[in-house]
Amino acid sequence: MQTVLDYLKQNQKRFLAEFCEYLRFASVSAQPQHKKDLLACAEWLVAHCRQIGLDARVCPTEGHPIVIAKTKPGSRGRSPHRKPHYMVYGHYDVQPPEPLELWTTPPFEPRIAGRNIFARGSTDNKGQNFAHLKAVEAYLKTGTPLPCDLTFVIEGEEEVGSKNLSAFLKKNRRELACDTIVVSDTGMPAPGHPALSYALRGIIAFEITVHGPSRDLHSGLFGGAVDNPAMALAQLLAKVRDEKGRVKIPGFYDGVAPLSKYERDQIKRYPLSDGGLKKLLGAPQLFGERGFTPTEQRSSRPTFEINGLTSGYQGEGSKTIVPAWARAKITCRLVPNQKPAHVRKVVCAWLKKNCPPTVRLEIAAGHGAEAYLVSPTGKPAQAALRALEKAFGAKPFLMREGGSIPIVNEFKKVLGADTLLLGMGLPDDNAHSPNEKFNLDCFENGQRMSAHLWQELSRG
Ligand code: BES
Ligand code: MN
Repeated sequence: MQTVLDYLKQNQKRFLAEFCEYLRFASVSAQPQHKKDLLACAEWLVAHCRQIGLDARVCPTEGHPIVIAKTKPGSRGRSPHRKPHYMVYGHYDVQPPEPLELWTTPPFEPRIAGRNIFARGSTDNKGQNFAHLKAVEAYLKTGTPLPCDLTFVIEGEEEVGSKNLSAFLKKNRRELACDTIVVSDTGMPAPGHPALSYALRGIIAFEITVHGPSRDLHSGLFGGAVDNPAMALAQLLAKVRDEKGRVKIPGFYDGVAPLSKYERDQIKRYPLSDGGLKKLLGAPQLFGERGFTPTEQRSSRPTFEINGLTSGYQGEGSKTIVPAWARAKITCRLVPNQKPAHVRKVVCAWLKKNCPPTVRLEIAAGHGAEAYLVSPTGKPAQAALRALEKAFGAKPFLMREGGSIPIVNEFKKVLGADTLLLGMGLPDDNAHSPNEKFNLDCFENGQRMSAHLWQELSRG
């Protein structure tokens, strides 16, 4: 093991240069103009995996390709016994970098400043999956036998709902059959405080468009006699929640699992204060459903969020029109025991019922996924906690995360395996925001965590 850790220590400079190469691909899965960049990034990853000693291939899908990389049968020594098989899942696609003018340096030109590296995708998720690859490289290049077989599944559609991965899992369920899945695509509460996350929120996405007149109209000639779609949409959306953010749609909270006293006590220990959170977010005040703390609100309560809102004239100066339409992109975050199909149904029914007859409502369904919850008391979780503690030199937190990784539910359904969520992102990493970064201590500790993890997990 010491050889592996020494190798990691001695090669950080090269790792960083390689990490920069990985970050230079503009692998924005939501934007069709970047299709080629996703393919190029997948091909780069495959070449890199081969270079470190893995068997790797690009698997085309109807969307962006999936990268599969596996340890060779020889990598685990010559023991005749069945070795455990673990999967590492990650994604090489990234969120759109816009608005570009808010980046200090361009999103796909990585910049190192102190112990941070800035680039779109640095924390979410290239840096985190690259840390695992570097740990395996350390085993393979030092000739240290791995106590297990490993398969990396690094996909290109996580940020758009993993549309093609679940069919891929089904098709390849024998090859991918494994004991546990490891995902580093979540966060830790503060520098030096590692975490095992045991829950994720689910999600439903949809777009609503409100149609009014057949074209934009002169607001002086016609305004007042025809409904304004932007106003109608604003009024409709305003009715969705109360002034504290509690959703008023009947049935929305059906099934929501309450937090136990034990969990609420754990959450109280979370090392980011409400004041610290407010400062981090740059908002005038915190906000949220009555009866829950901010950490509870953002990890364990469902929400209804407008992600985008568009209507009428957006250019410079004024233009006096009644717009023909207005549109909102919406996602609801879901928590354990809420059923995505049920929430979608009650939300759509409510919107239809409450939309005035002066406009026509159109709802387009998007992706959806259940929340994830796994007991942190099982053997793999205990092994992960030991690996985290060894790598970071601090007791790990157990926490629920507010973000979503839809595919973990499919891992359970299709492969029958639980997922360990061992994230290395920090709250100020700016995931999905301008000036995304990854902390280099997290990068290094993540590599060490991965190196320890295979030993701890395989101990049986
Ligand atoms: N890495 C995030 C998810 C995440 C971040 C979970 C922090 C927990 C803590 C992932 O890349 C992500 O952003 N997922 C999307 C999923 C959606 C597009 C279906 C999300 O949560 O918005
Ligand atoms: Mn993301």
